[in-house]
Amino acid sequence: MKRAQVLFLLILISFVFVAFTQEKTEEKKQKDVSYSHLNVAQIAGKRLFVLKKCSDCHTLDEEAKDDLTPVTDKRDDDWFAGHVKKESPIVLREEKSKRKQRRILRDEIQALDEFLYQTKPKEREQIESMPENVFEGAYLVYQNNCLNCHSIAGLGKDIAPDLTEVANRHDRQWFVANLKDPKQFKEDTIMPSFAHLPEENLEAIADYLETLK
Ligand code: HEC
Ligand code: HEC
Repeated sequence: MKRAQVLFLLILISFVFVAFTQEKTEEKKQKDVSYSHLNVAQIAGKRLFVLKKCSDCHTLDEEAKDDLTPVTDKRDDDWFAGHVKKESPIVLREEKSKRKQRRILRDEIQALDEFLYQTKPKEREQIESMPENVFEGAYLVYQNNCLNCHSIAGLGKDIAPDLTEVANRHDRQWFVANLKDPKQFKEDTIMPSFAHLPEENLEAIADYLETLK
């Protein structure tokens, strides 16, 4: 081989090596991140802000110069609930009974309120920087009422185990298997199966649960 060829080969090898180790550290970074202290309702609120089309008229950026209205001042709760109902009749979970449908709307208003007014700047920053799959997973945990039995970071109920550090007990594969068929791990469990959800939803929930440590 000519010297130029050897040199070229060496450079190529080092490029591949650098790319490989970088990818490894990226992977590790994602694995090390913990979101166990964040409030799921606040995360869901951010997602609802877009899904309920508030972002068609509003911006979260106080200094925005376009024609969107910044959401800054907190008005009273009745005004807020009335405004959400009037401007955004979309409710994101279909329920047959009127009573349940009203409860869902109330939960959504609560989540929007939590995100817009109860998040500290640091928490908001962390929510904004969540990877898309983890963000979606947290929203799905809220949306599928997991917190009617479980709790995370102090939010939810204590009918079932607290999930705040659940990633220390199980891995991603186990989470997906348990969501599909909880009875395979405990025959008489009250946890319902979520096998009706699309596979990518189950994967997203597992991605989020993996950050709870
Ligand atoms: C069709 C446009 C539109 C949509 C959709 C909309 N809003 Fe508004 N919103 C407005 C306008 C216009 C105002 C200012 C009204 C006023 O001053 O009385 C406002 C005011 C507000 C305010 C008071 C802001 C302040 O600083 O005084 C809040 C909070 C708010 N909206 C939240 C929401 C949320 C949450 C949603 C989604 C569920 C939403 N809005 C959907 C148009 C909209
Ligand atoms: C009706 C109550 C109920 C609902 C709703 C529910 N679970 Fe569970 N879940 C349980 C119970 C109870 C257990 C513990 C197993 C047992 O002893 O039956 C459990 C166990 C778990 C575990 C393992 C916990 C551990 O510490 O080992 C995970 C993870 C979990 N559930 C996630 C979820 C997710 C995610 C959702 C929503 C998509 C959900 N659960 C909805 C009742 C529920």
